[in-house]
Amino acid sequence: MSISWHTHVSGNALSHLAVVHTMETKPTIGLLVGSLRRDSYSKKVANYLADALADQFNVVRVDISDLPLYNEDLDHEGVLPPQWTRLRSDIGALDGVIFVTPEYNRSLPAVLKNAMDVASRPYGANQWSGKPGAVISVSPGNLGGFGANHHLRQVATVLNINMMQQPEAYVSGIATAVDADGVTDEKMQGFLTQIAQSYAGWFKQLTSVSA
Ligand code: FNR
Repeated sequence: MSISWHTHVSGNALSHLAVVHTMETKPTIGLLVGSLRRDSYSKKVANYLADALADQFNVVRVDISDLPLYNEDLDHEGVLPPQWTRLRSDIGALDGVIFVTPEYNRSLPAVLKNAMDVASRPYGANQWSGKPGAVISVSPGNLGGFGANHHLRQVATVLNINMMQQPEAYVSGIATAVDADGVTDEKMQGFLTQIAQSYAGWFKQLTSVSA
């Protein structure tokens, strides 16, 4: 993929991607990762998914690392941090969205919840609405981030993201399935490939209904 985790998708860049989408007739899927950690396991899982999805989608990484915390006053006063404007534009331009997240204290990390909040507002301009979505939770522990996965699903309900229900993706024991370069364990690779294929089917099912 040509876009690194540290390169946000600017409005202009997305316009460019939208042109590529038209030329390649591939829908654009955004990957949001709930970890800012340099060597994040979740980023490695997201990278693997990006490659697995690349033949069917234009995959873009949506940077949420520099977003100021949501404050409703700023929307009311119309004094918007440029990072909010950028995120809202980025999310609005996507055809679908996939969240890959660790679990923090049995919930989703604040950085990801903040991004979901920012792009849900101002009231009446929820950028997430109607998009086919999926969540993959990732943990070095045994529970696979179940709490984060389901708290994110709760938020996705009010945002009207059409979340894939099955297969569910709780990735446990991730530390032994990766090396410095990415996901190496074959069983894990097979599971993530299955999730990517299922999402592609879910996306097709939803988008062909209205066609
Ligand atoms: C964690 N971790 C964690 N793991 C888990 O399975 N369930 C949990 O509730 C928590 N809680 C938690 C809270 C906080 C504040 C931190 C920093 C960490 C451990 C977590 O899974 C581990 O640090 C992962 O490596 C984080 O994911 P990334 O950054 O590797 O993608």
